[in-house]
Amino acid sequence: MEKVYVNAGDGYDVLIGPGLLAEAGNRVREALGIGGVPENGGTGVKLALFTDTTVGPLYGEAVEKSLKEAGFTVVRYEYPAGEKSKNIETVAHFVEFLAESGMTRKDAVVVLGGGVAGDMGGFAAATFMRGIKFIQIPTSLLAAVDSSVGGKTGVDIPAGKNLMGAFWQPSLVLCDTDVFGSLTEDLLLDGFAEVIKTAAICDSGFFERLEAAAGSGGGPGVLRSILREHAADIVRDCVRIKGHVVENDEREGGLRRILNFGHTMAHAIEKDADYGLSHGKAVAIGMLMVTGASEKRGLSPAGTLDRLTRLISGLGYATSWDAPLETLCEIARSDKKSRGSHIGIVVLEEIGKAAVTDVKTSELADFYRI
Ligand SMILES: NC(=O)c1ccc[n+]([C@@H]2O[C@H](COP(=O)([O-])OP(=O)(O)OC[C@H]3O[C@@H](n4cnc5c(N)ncnc54)[C@H](O)[C@@H]3O)[C@@H](O)[C@H]2O)c1
Repeated sequence: MEKVYVNAGDGYDVLIGPGLLAEAGNRVREALGIGGVPENGGTGVKLALFTDTTVGPLYGEAVEKSLKEAGFTVVRYEYPAGEKSKNIETVAHFVEFLAESGMTRKDAVVVLGGGVAGDMGGFAAATFMRGIKFIQIPTSLLAAVDSSVGGKTGVDIPAGKNLMGAFWQPSLVLCDTDVFGSLTEDLLLDGFAEVIKTAAICDSGFFERLEAAAGSGGGPGVLRSILREHAADIVRDCVRIKGHVVENDEREGGLRRILNFGHTMAHAIEKDADYGLSHGKAVAIGMLMVTGASEKRGLSPAGTLDRLTRLISGLGYATSWDAPLETLCEIARSDKKSRGSHIGIVVLEEIGKAAVTDVKTSELADFYRI
């Protein structure tokens, strides 16, 4: 597997490929503009490695070793793995830790982990001393293809998910595709739904490559072999596409909204399941629900739903959610982000091209009814 670079559109690079954890030190030096060979005095720069209690024991040592060999002083902070930790208390503890470790504006945060680590580590970097640099080393598929791109950082608050945060771009994203080997089947499915979404909304060629790689299906086992062969290309395509979308609309005024394909119903399904169903699995169902509706209304060409269904069900996702449509629409209407007279629903004008259609909130169930 080759290493590939993508310029994510904000003046920083995303480096993708196998074996990159061992190169972390030198790559971070380059990204921070530190030249020369480390001498006994080192770089004079301190790095705070922010990770969780699952990823830290798996990959923390390798990253720390590489950073130290490149002349950095490294301090490590681990939080209990999982979404439950994604709150302001964890970030406040970490920021306190940065201060206690004597970090200054010239130092940086290195985030090693999934989307939760990236969102919190980035948010801490955005706020400590009013902003220091940070580097992302995504380890979940979801973080690699989605959350590490776009600069959204933040935490959940009791009133809702991701309601507190900041836009803060990393100085480098380093994606070692070898780490996908330790992801569970559930985590793979969770991340791959965003891959399918990205291809479906923006790149028909990419979608066709996914169809070809998936063949006639075979469940998550196929997913693992697809990633073994094509991980770097898949992450690169997703980063390139999301990077382009975000570059043209960082703050979600227009184009960025297409990234929400499948998400209106996905959020409702996640809530209905009391978050017992992962986001990605809910997005897979959401994409099918909205495409069934848009095809029926002539907004998507005939056959679109068939192709999506074949890919999604072939990889082992559930294709429907057992709850009354009215219930899901009621949840969607009460979503804080959807308050107002209309909800923007993303539909496929064709595979590889998305558009937003405004639907009256009061007519949401009519829109989705097939
Ligand atoms: N900022 C954005 O634009 C954006 C976009 C999408 C999602 N998100 C956020 O991302 C979060 C979900 O991301 P996530 O699922 O990566 O969360 P996560 O960081 O909690 O990772 C999920 C689980 O996978 C484990 N894990 C990560 N890498 C692993 C590896 N290589 N091997 C074994 N286990 C590993 C973690 O320890 C954790 O238990 C949500 O909080 C969501 O809001 C943010």
